Amino acid sequence: MSCMIGIDIGTSGVKTLVVTETGKIVAQATAEYPLYHPKAGWAEQDPEDWWQATLTTLKKIGEDLGSDADRVKAIGLSGQMHGSVFLDKSGNVLRPAILWCDVRTADQCRYITETVGRDELIRHTSNPALEGFTAPKIVWLQQNEPDVYRQVAKVLLPKDYVRYRLTGEIFTEMSDAAGSLLLDVTHRRWSEPVLQALNIDPEILPECRESIDVCGTLTQQVAESTGLPAGIPVAGGGADNACGATGAGIVRPGRVLSSIGSSGVIVVHTDQPQTDPQGKVHTFNHAIPHRWYVMGVIMAAGLSLKWFRDNLGHLEKQMESLTGTDAYDLMSAQAAPTPPGAEGLVFLPYLNGERTPHADAYARGVFFGLTPRHTRGHLIRAVMEGVVYALRDSVEIIRAMGIPIEQVRAIGGGAKSPLWRQMQADIMQLEVATLNIDEGPAFGAALLAGVCAQVYSSVEEAAENTVRIVHTTEPNRDLTRLYDDYYQLFRSLYPALKDRFREAAQLEI
Ligand code: XUL
Repeated sequence: MSCMIGIDIGTSGVKTLVVTETGKIVAQATAEYPLYHPKAGWAEQDPEDWWQATLTTLKKIGEDLGSDADRVKAIGLSGQMHGSVFLDKSGNVLRPAILWCDVRTADQCRYITETVGRDELIRHTSNPALEGFTAPKIVWLQQNEPDVYRQVAKVLLPKDYVRYRLTGEIFTEMSDAAGSLLLDVTHRRWSEPVLQALNIDPEILPECRESIDVCGTLTQQVAESTGLPAGIPVAGGGADNACGATGAGIVRPGRVLSSIGSSGVIVVHTDQPQTDPQGKVHTFNHAIPHRWYVMGVIMAAGLSLKWFRDNLGHLEKQMESLTGTDAYDLMSAQAAPTPPGAEGLVFLPYLNGERTPHADAYARGVFFGLTPRHTRGHLIRAVMEGVVYALRDSVEIIRAMGIPIEQVRAIGGGAKSPLWRQMQADIMQLEVATLNIDEGPAFGAALLAGVCAQVYSSVEEAAENTVRIVHTTEPNRDLTRLYDDYYQLFRSLYPALKDRFREAAQLEI
């Protein structure tokens, strides 16, 4: 049976899967790498670390597959969006990559908005200038490291740098290019007016193909060191969110992805590009040719609960090491008996600032409404509910855009925990489905590789043949009113605190 490899270049590590044409995972490997914060608000990685980690996973997979390695028909790449890898004309990396979660570019976002014009920017690229996107990073380099900028021959996105090392070829594809703020998302080409206004030479951008197109083939050298067949195609692949959506079957209108990883995303498939005139949610090209998606991103979803576990959950962590029961399960067990709404305790999950809907790097996490009767269980419930209120913000914006939302498909931490699933159903008032496969973007990337190698005739067919709903959680209608009231309270807190967050940021320095 034919197999495909999917590789996801994440923020904490690489995940590589080998998937059969029926969607069975027959081998997998992961490898981690560090994230550097050289200054407050900066987030950088060394592209060489991505490459070495990728190679480690491919070597392990090559060993596991042995003679079956010949069944691998293609490789698909997925990766963290927006990161910028600056290469000189010999293909050397000029400085550490600046990542999606780096917020150094507030001034450059203002500059881009003023130079291009806010409405023009949305007209050309479908999105406003946000700190995480790639164009502000390029402008930052122009303005702050001009000597480095002068040497830049190409700017690559993280997975496209790994492609370069796998194949020696330089390409990108629509779904990742969409997050650069330099792609005309509607017409699916680099945006000349924006490039001109920002004085960015189009030559530094890679050729942009489709996610299912061949974008290079595996070099002899990499084939020899991994045991994989030389010359197999490397598909365009896609942005991690496009691949995550593909791998969860978000390939038709009405289907919505709710993913709780470190960050949280709501992704809804659209047949046409649909832009939020206020720019609060993003409009990007899907990994399906001529399809799009609208996405809201919250910066600290799983990260908020992880923060709680790492800083206030020592007991649970100790119990985990003694009994083997997962610390998160122990935390959920404490939250479950507390009442919905956590008896007036509301958490704002803005530990890393917030993207949707506030686009505010200064926003901060808040527990609101603490009283002596609140217990650890209430705190944990409030954190989990706060993450879902923040995700509901995106759902509300998408609904107001007139985009149909019928069913939520949950992946990540929010799918694993029954309590978080129920909260999503209750707070969003939607059915929440979980799937037979919850492997994230690497799985979607493998499906794209399958289409590229003609194992499937379309991305839709690939997803429908492999992804199934295994469980649904229905909303408890008795809680609609209560959660609507709490959601309104949640929404009212940010505007009340916005200016205070800025003042607090002054004190932080
Ligand atoms: C999307 C975004 C994040 C990264 C994380 O706009 O910034 O979801 O792609 O991997």
